Amino acid sequence: MLAYRHLFHAGNFADVFKHALLAQLMLGLAKKDKPFFCLDTHAGTGHYDLGHEWARKNAEYKSGISLVWNRTDLPAEMTPYIDAVRAENADRKLNFYPGSPRIMRRFMRAHDRLALIELNKRDHETLAALFANDRQVQVRLLDGYQALKALLPPSERRGLVFIDSSFDRAQEFKRLTDGFVEGHRKFATGVYALWYPLMDAIAMQGFERRMAATGVKKILQLELAVRNLGVAGSVRGCGMLVVNPPFEFEAAARKIVAWLWPVLAENGEGSQHVRWLVPE
Ligand SMILES: C[S@@+](CC[C@H](N)C(=O)[O-])C[C@H]1O[C@@H](n2cnc3c(N)ncnc32)[C@H](O)[C@@H]1O
Repeated sequence: MLAYRHLFHAGNFADVFKHALLAQLMLGLAKKDKPFFCLDTHAGTGHYDLGHEWARKNAEYKSGISLVWNRTDLPAEMTPYIDAVRAENADRKLNFYPGSPRIMRRFMRAHDRLALIELNKRDHETLAALFANDRQVQVRLLDGYQALKALLPPSERRGLVFIDSSFDRAQEFKRLTDGFVEGHRKFATGVYALWYPLMDAIAMQGFERRMAATGVKKILQLELAVRNLGVAGSVRGCGMLVVNPPFEFEAAARKIVAWLWPVLAENGEGSQHVRWLVPE
């Protein structure tokens, strides 16, 4: 039984960061006519009620999407993301938050496909119900790392693999790296987005070293810290590694991350950076 439930965290700063970048990756894929395939290995429930008692418990969205929602100075690069959040809310009031499945689905054309993988039975049921009538979306109760072996390479030979683990088990950085290597071995031309929490320096250096040692090129690293130290139950920041980013993604991502930092940072703390962990 998995203890992690994303409803407790929906719309937090990490969601804003990952989903704003995810929207840009999807836009990049949709620029070419050729069909694409998307795989979300840790999909969650796809749609979150911020009024639910779980979401209200720590109200993480208040230091995430709530800080962005009413801003009038959003850079153009944030528009695809904020439009996706607006689409979940009938009026201008923020009541619901989209998960990665709904965000990805929004950018697909009639010939694109999406596979959503979720290991928690209850969350899988909710997610399956949300996409029950959608023939372009396949929802599976499966280990996301197994899905990398089972579903790659896609027949389209183009696509995005989003690995967004809840990091609620020990050794997750190793599992993430090994899973990525497995996927990349089968589908080297795919775009990969790997989300991770910022942990202690030794863990972070180990992860970067292992990723660099895979021999895979074109790994863009994006990080956002919202405070200098982690507090109980919450990390100080998070990052995303994007492998084979689409053309123009880097420039958009730099603007997004630079804009988000002062908006989401607590008391001017934290930091942000975008750099090539491994260049071309
Ligand atoms: C961070 S949440 C996902 C959030 C979602 N990607 C989004 O952006 O809206 C991680 C999800 O992965 C699920 N999960 C945990 N371990 C998994 C595994 N090995 N395979 C697939 N799903 C897993 C959890 O139940 C949880 O719903």
